[in-house]
Amino acid sequence: MSTPHNNAEYGQIAKTVLMPGDPLRAKFIAETYLENPVCYNEVRGMLGFTGTYKGKEISVQGSGMGMPSIGIYSHELYNVYGVENIFRIGTAGSIADNINLREIIIGQSASTNSNYASQYRLPGTYAPTASYKLLKAAVDAADKLGSAYHVGNILSSDTFYDDASSLADWQKMGVLAIEMEAAALYMNAARAGKNALCILTVSDCPLKNLSTTAQERQTSFRDMMEIALEAAINI
Ligand code: HPA
Repeated sequence: MSTPHNNAEYGQIAKTVLMPGDPLRAKFIAETYLENPVCYNEVRGMLGFTGTYKGKEISVQGSGMGMPSIGIYSHELYNVYGVENIFRIGTAGSIADNINLREIIIGQSASTNSNYASQYRLPGTYAPTASYKLLKAAVDAADKLGSAYHVGNILSSDTFYDDASSLADWQKMGVLAIEMEAAALYMNAARAGKNALCILTVSDCPLKNLSTTAQERQTSFRDMMEIALEAAINI
């Protein structure tokens, strides 16, 4: 059984999946950290691999950019392939004064300017929230690895190039950083009764006009990957 977007057969994808936005990063993680990685999906180049990390079966799957894209892939992982836990690992633009380039942010909740929640027909505003089990595992892993991190509310935006320049308003509400996927992932997990967490590395500070080089991103990404992998084997 496959889907229009994923060629994997049921059973080829582990119960716990790491999801970077970039499928080539999924390949990098699989080749760098997993033992015996097997590629199960190449549809649209959205590569997915399953292997083992310290003896536990883990998959790594690209999500693409934006809520519609991660919405599709995570929905299928949870509802077609029996996945229980998804750790999104990605980059974000920090908008908090005290969070600098290359630092790690764990998304406890994800505010959004997207209309994704309208499909649930709720008579109010839904608050997309990480799963505490995954959040605790990630915090414990970061503590064990000695990595510094921040935990809080992030913004999942439908726009990267935003005409409204609204980041200062989100900052006033204590939002730490902007990215483009977590809210849809958290909602899909909630709807499916599954678990999700978004871990981010700060790649830019849009309010300060700062950004990392590709080399810096590569190095700091590794800390985040190791936090996610250690958390994944302890849940
Ligand atoms: N905006 C939205 N998404 C992002 C950013 C940003 O500045 N940086 C990394 N992902």
